Amino acid sequence: MSHQRVLTGITTSGTPHLGNYVGAVRPTVRASRLASVESFYFLADYHALIKVGDPARVQRSTLEIAATWLACGLDPEKVTFYRQSDIPEIPELTWLLTCVTGKGLLNRAHAYKASVDKNTAGGDEPDNGVTAGLFMYPVLMAADILMFNAHQVPVGRDQIQHIEMARDIASSFNHLYGEHFTLPEAVIEDHVATLPGLDGRKMSKSYDNTIPLFAPREQLRKLIMGIVTDSRAPGEPKDTQGSALFQLYQAFASAEETAVLARSYADGIAWGDAKQLLFERLDAEIAPMRAVYDELIQDPAQIERTLQAGAKKARALATPFTARLRHAVGLRPLDSQPTPVKASKATRAAAPSFKQYREKDGLFYFKLLDAQGHLLLQSTGFASPREAAGTVARLQQQGTDAIAKLQSQLIVSADPQVLAQALGCFAASTD
Ligand code: TRP
Repeated sequence: MSHQRVLTGITTSGTPHLGNYVGAVRPTVRASRLASVESFYFLADYHALIKVGDPARVQRSTLEIAATWLACGLDPEKVTFYRQSDIPEIPELTWLLTCVTGKGLLNRAHAYKASVDKNTAGGDEPDNGVTAGLFMYPVLMAADILMFNAHQVPVGRDQIQHIEMARDIASSFNHLYGEHFTLPEAVIEDHVATLPGLDGRKMSKSYDNTIPLFAPREQLRKLIMGIVTDSRAPGEPKDTQGSALFQLYQAFASAEETAVLARSYADGIAWGDAKQLLFERLDAEIAPMRAVYDELIQDPAQIERTLQAGAKKARALATPFTARLRHAVGLRPLDSQPTPVKASKATRAAAPSFKQYREKDGLFYFKLLDAQGHLLLQSTGFASPREAAGTVARLQQQGTDAIAKLQSQLIVSADPQVLAQALGCFAASTD
């Protein structure tokens, strides 16, 4: 009934490369075509300010990344496609969340800790060169996700911790102010191999080994001719294992095409010929999109209009939701009717809540508490937070029907009527 909401953002700090395309853009554009999802894609330009101090680069990257999404087939009619900084409710929510976020939680963020460790190792002050923006990065990201109550957030492995923090922050807010936020889950594209760069290491801006996705055809050819290979001569059999060239080919070609190339490797194909094959295969997929991209880049005003339309769609959700959140935390007009306020406070206070947590045994649990904190329901351990969250979602959507089906995973400590009433509160509030 209610669609799964999928949301992801790309930081506008550079030029999209083949690794971004294979790892992020291509899978998410494909996923966005599924009828069963409601997708939100955005340009994370507030995040860009954390690492980029060059205004022209932020603007250029925003244009390039927007044009890339569109050229790769993102349909702005079907999805909500917007620029983060067009949604003033995002920084507002960031503040509301900041006030329920433990500083200790942020101290544990990998990116922040890496900076501190580096400083400490170099004999510098721990926070040397660390901005408050870097420190707050996870809260801004939580605001991105929670604003639209996204269920699923497709990200790279390096972002998993940020999603977990968003869950923690959402739980803290919900605990204090009532159930306003959905707890999001990271979705990791496990089958998408990380793409090697020109030097064989992971393709990454920081290694300066990338192939820009929309490099002009001739530049693409040159870059591909520069991919490192070993010194085996034409006629000598070659290893597909560990061959950056082969991995790149595989990321674009069908299984059959890849098998053909593997045979050519065994038959001693010359590196020059293999590179030519890779170039043609890549260009076949990229050329049609490149044509669209080049056109879009020439017409920034059109992209700007698309983004404005997206912002309008996004704000149609963000503005009323923020009004509700402001009210929840007590940012209210002084003359607002005290009676309805009290009534809604009372209903919220009477609301039961699910709490999810991890035990020392490493398993993930949840319990259902009533407004006074009495235990109504307790789960057995789940192997992953995802399974626990999925079970909570079933209980919320199906109510008592789910209890019978989930019997082996639940320990019920309230009488059925009380439980039915408690679960009824969720069914009513999830649309
Ligand atoms: N931090 C993400 C990255 O660098 C980009 C991002 C910002 C994001 N906000 C987000 C991703 C919200 C998913 C959801 O890759």
